[in-house]
Amino acid sequence: MIFRRRRLAKFIGVCLVLLFALIASRNLVAGDVSSDSKRGRIYLVGVGPGDPELITIRAMNVIRGADLIVCWEGMREGFDRELEGKKVIQPPKGVWIWFGYGKKASDFKGKELDKFRRSEKARAQIITQVYRTVTDGKTVAFLSHGDPLIYGPWVWVLKEFKEIKPIVIPGLSSFNAANAALRRGVTSGKGTKSVILTMPDLPGLAKTDTIDKLASHRATMVIFMPFVRHTKLVDLVQRLSAHYPIETPIALVSYAGFKKKEAVIKGTLSNILSKVDHQKLPFETLVYVGDFLN
Ligand SMILES: C[S@@+](CC[C@H](N)C(=O)[O-])C[C@H]1O[C@@H](n2cnc3c(N)ncnc32)[C@H](O)[C@@H]1O
Repeated sequence: MIFRRRRLAKFIGVCLVLLFALIASRNLVAGDVSSDSKRGRIYLVGVGPGDPELITIRAMNVIRGADLIVCWEGMREGFDRELEGKKVIQPPKGVWIWFGYGKKASDFKGKELDKFRRSEKARAQIITQVYRTVTDGKTVAFLSHGDPLIYGPWVWVLKEFKEIKPIVIPGLSSFNAANAALRRGVTSGKGTKSVILTMPDLPGLAKTDTIDKLASHRATMVIFMPFVRHTKLVDLVQRLSAHYPIETPIALVSYAGFKKKEAVIKGTLSNILSKVDHQKLPFETLVYVGDFLN
């Protein structure tokens, strides 16, 4: 009897040891995976339209865990607390960090070539620092306003660091915030059901989907960066008026999503120019045109 009890106790003991060993090995693997997942990562993070209240919890967590932040200088304003004590790098002022990515110097001339060279130089510096950080097993977060994949200046990062498989954290676009400011169903036009997101046709960056072609559909159109470079509201209104009826409503939404400074100017294609001086409008402005505004 005693002999049997001893064998049973020994058997249970061996089982327990094996069970603990199994649990320990699993924990070790799980630990390795989670620590691996924190190592050498690159994130492209959407931080929302600018008001710190409109950043997501996921984006905040990624920023908190990042060792190196890459963003525009202006972003420190709204996110100074999140960025406090972090190593932050940013492109020099006036450099379009995305400009000419994947192209060669021979693709540009004159001023465009200068701009390309400055962008290339700034990109090369950032790329070197990012590789260094990731090789050290650390985390890099590129911060992008709105949603990073809608006219985002850091989209090229996804190609550049393809092997590291950057993770994209979606953000609330200024488009979403401006829709809310307009308080209209943006997909509920009187005669159309579609929304076109676009931007001005810039010389040297021409694409086939010009404003003129798009306007011919008379769908709701949302124009990002309406006043980038030499583009002017007067020119935009002229192009739109060639296709939309002249009484079609148009709205300009500035600082969408900002609790204190959000502003909306509404009019029609026939009178909007008399209502605004576009030079006084900030870069953070979206132009909407379409009968959903009625
Ligand atoms: C480079 S694009 C970036 C867009 C951004 N990824 C997004 O999803 O909102 C910059 C343009 O977005 C628009 N924009 C960004 N923030 C804005 C805001 N808070 N209010 C209105 N427009 C904004 C403006 O048209 C601005 O010129």
